[in-house]
Amino acid sequence: MIQEDLFKKIIAHSKEYGFIFQSSELYDGLSAVYDYGQNGAELKNNIKEYWWKAMTQMNEEVVGIDSAIFMHPSVWKASGHVDAFSDPLIDNKDSKKRYRADVLIEEYVEKITDKINKEVKKAQKRFGEQFDEQQFLETNQRVVDYRQKQKDIMSEFVSAMDDNNLERVRQLIIDLEIACPVSGSRNWTEVRQFNLMFDTKLGSLSEGANTIYLRPETAQGIFVNYLNVQKTSRKQLPFGIAQIGKAFRNEIVARQFIFRMREFEQMEMQYFVKPGQEIEWFEVWKERRMKWHLAMGIDPQKYRWHAHNKLAHYANAAFDIEFDFPFGFKELEGVHSRTDFDLSQHEEFSGKKLRYFDNELNESFVPYVVETSVGLDRTFLSVLSACYNEEKVGDETRVVLNLPAPLAPVKVAVLPLVKKDGLPELAREILDELKFDMNCQYEEKDSIGKRYRRQDAIGTPFCITVDHQTLEDRTVTLRHRDSMEQERVAMQDIAQIVREKVDMKNLLKKLV
Ligand code: GAP
Repeated sequence: MIQEDLFKKIIAHSKEYGFIFQSSELYDGLSAVYDYGQNGAELKNNIKEYWWKAMTQMNEEVVGIDSAIFMHPSVWKASGHVDAFSDPLIDNKDSKKRYRADVLIEEYVEKITDKINKEVKKAQKRFGEQFDEQQFLETNQRVVDYRQKQKDIMSEFVSAMDDNNLERVRQLIIDLEIACPVSGSRNWTEVRQFNLMFDTKLGSLSEGANTIYLRPETAQGIFVNYLNVQKTSRKQLPFGIAQIGKAFRNEIVARQFIFRMREFEQMEMQYFVKPGQEIEWFEVWKERRMKWHLAMGIDPQKYRWHAHNKLAHYANAAFDIEFDFPFGFKELEGVHSRTDFDLSQHEEFSGKKLRYFDNELNESFVPYVVETSVGLDRTFLSVLSACYNEEKVGDETRVVLNLPAPLAPVKVAVLPLVKKDGLPELAREILDELKFDMNCQYEEKDSIGKRYRRQDAIGTPFCITVDHQTLEDRTVTLRHRDSMEQERVAMQDIAQIVREKVDMKNLLKKLV
């Protein structure tokens, strides 16, 4: 399936089956804000549970917290967000549309990549099996020129941003003759930095209200609680603090469905270590985090590592896990070695010591931090897009979500074949036993085939059908979503069979 079509289908499917709705759709929607419906909320909660248990239950030295969204404004001064958490923006004077200058330039560079790929394809056809792509990229003059051009553009852009010279960024856009996609004109304003934090007022205006921010990341709630947690949990280094929660960013280029939202959720963990041990732990966490993604059984080819070309001034190592979304490889998670930057900044701005006393060394120091930060919504999108499948069954096409069973919104659907003869009562008997352990659905409307299709479409791993034979021998049909195979099992065995398959333990066991 063409990737663009797949993406459209996933968005439509999400709406049709109660996974994701546009926020405030009734009022024509609010851009880049989404609501999770009945199945979306279940899937999202299951992903959270998987992450939370993987972090806190599977690692003795990691504990979880839940800090507030509102924090003292000085937190964001100390973290650098007030001064530097911004995007360079440019407006087109004719269309009045606003763009991220870096995105306009990156898209231009991407187009050159497309041209290179076309040359490669042409040459592949021409040379057949003897084609050596690497050699072609290095020697074909047209391709060499294209690649040099890309390098020159990016180095000018990076250097202009490093010098904070926004006029040079604008000049680059003009020199490259980049036009507004809406008006087609090159009538650009100057480039300005635009802070991504949302602000609001705490207290009533008459009391002299203070400006506070909606947190743009959950991490700072962990840093400012680091000593509270360390002291009350009596943890020794190394130890970690995990948190799941909402974050807010006033994203300007907010496209691609739930990939880039203005209100989203992060799952972050800060791992506090002795200075000098951070790179060792960075490697450990890189491996652990990739394992977590792969344990869901998604094609490993869909994940790749991306090393940051340019490290933030406080980081001494940074890699992203990228996922092959329907619109290409994009960042899913960041694993960063952030040195002692955040804690030291909070020491300086609060005037309070955030030191760890090491009994062995008999000295105190500010710990170093390794951070893992993954977007919950992006994980949701990665799982949904990898598990969405269309299959030919006879003359029909069935849409099935091959979700890992422990993450499925509904684990079991209990279906009486007909709405009479005592079958609904027997079905309810099964449901009443299973519902203490897992999310189940009871459905009696429509033909059994239609009901199976509806359950396939929301990823229900098991359907139990109660029929007339059940009245005689108390056996039911257990249907498996992926193979569509059906087996006859005793009613009394159902709970154990299903419980084993849908248990979160199945995913967690793959992590050790
Ligand atoms: N504490 C580090 C931090 O916040 P980040 O790379 O800015 O780092 C971490 O964000 C993760 O949060 C990203 O890898 C992504 O999965 C998710 N994320 C960031 N901005 C997002 C947005 N606007 N919408 C959805 N997810 C987002």
